Amino acid sequence: MRHLLIKGRFLLLALVLTFVTSACEKEAVTIPTVEQTNPTKTTNHEKPKDEKIKIGFSMDTLQEERWLRDRDLFKKSVEALGAEVEILAANGDDALQISQAERLISQGVDLLVIVPHNAEATAAIVHKAHLAGIKVIAYDRLVKNADIDLYVSFDNEKVGELQGEAITKLVPKGNYVYIGGAMTDNNALLFKKGVFNVLQPLIDNGDIKIVYDQWTKDWTPANALANMEAALKANGNQIDAVIAANDATAGGVIQALQAHGLAGKVPVAGQDAELAAAQRIIEGTQTMTVYKPIQSLTEKVAQLAVKIAKGEIIDAKQKVNNGKIEVPSVLLQPIAVDRSNIDDTIIADGFHSRADVYKNDDSR
Ligand code: GAL
Repeated sequence: MRHLLIKGRFLLLALVLTFVTSACEKEAVTIPTVEQTNPTKTTNHEKPKDEKIKIGFSMDTLQEERWLRDRDLFKKSVEALGAEVEILAANGDDALQISQAERLISQGVDLLVIVPHNAEATAAIVHKAHLAGIKVIAYDRLVKNADIDLYVSFDNEKVGELQGEAITKLVPKGNYVYIGGAMTDNNALLFKKGVFNVLQPLIDNGDIKIVYDQWTKDWTPANALANMEAALKANGNQIDAVIAANDATAGGVIQALQAHGLAGKVPVAGQDAELAAAQRIIEGTQTMTVYKPIQSLTEKVAQLAVKIAKGEIIDAKQKVNNGKIEVPSVLLQPIAVDRSNIDDTIIADGFHSRADVYKNDDSR
């Protein structure tokens, strides 16, 4: 018996030694070589020089205008840098987003970029990617409670502040409705925080009353419409202003207002500068939107993704806490747009053509 035990221990020791030796051999091939050639290198990947960097892009959805633009521009930005990208979209399905990301990981992408549907659920993806030695960038939306390597987005709290400032300027007193985004999306929390940074002092002094405040499941216009219907009903249509967390939900809100003859009478804010919203601004049914130049985002992410994949050091001085770590971050600036500056912003940038934006303008 004792003999067997000793034999077993030897076997175990031999196994451990083999494992350690092969691990060291692996290290000797990869990490030290990388560090010798460039001490600032951060990656654990090495590619033959002529092989293209391959990036995996795991998207929540393509069911909104904004994300189609993100997809197309991101592909362009990555390819302009001589790299390539494999794109998968899960259309709001958490389990599918995780399995798609796993597919990208097992295909051996050099780096993973994620637009999370669910800020918490996607932490599993980050964990799995890291186990495979792949770094992960959170694109536009933060991944919570995970060791995410980088977060690149717009200043989303500022988006809400721009909405709050524009609407309180027009309606300094009265009954306000807030139609939030999807509460599974960290951006929805930031947008709301920004709005209430502006509204709170006016709520405290009694000028503004929040008569309805609700999240919109999955950001859908249909859910926003139902919420707005409920808001109108609960308040006998006595609503003075609406702030909606994006243009898709603003569209639902305006449809509900239309049914009560109130479209164009009640100021409504949105964000994303979607074409339909830009047209509503010209028609007078939506007051403002917030323009986030998507191309700046795709170019920034592509540039940083390729650098990280090559093991170069990147410059991301801002930090955003995601519940687990201070994530190195880059936050771009959003721009408030109403009828007065629509030509100088989204049209001047070619985000939308003038012909499209003014398509339904009778005053031309
Ligand atoms: C947010 C994003 C917005 C909006 C929304 C719905 O995370 O920042 O631009 O489109 O998702 O998809």
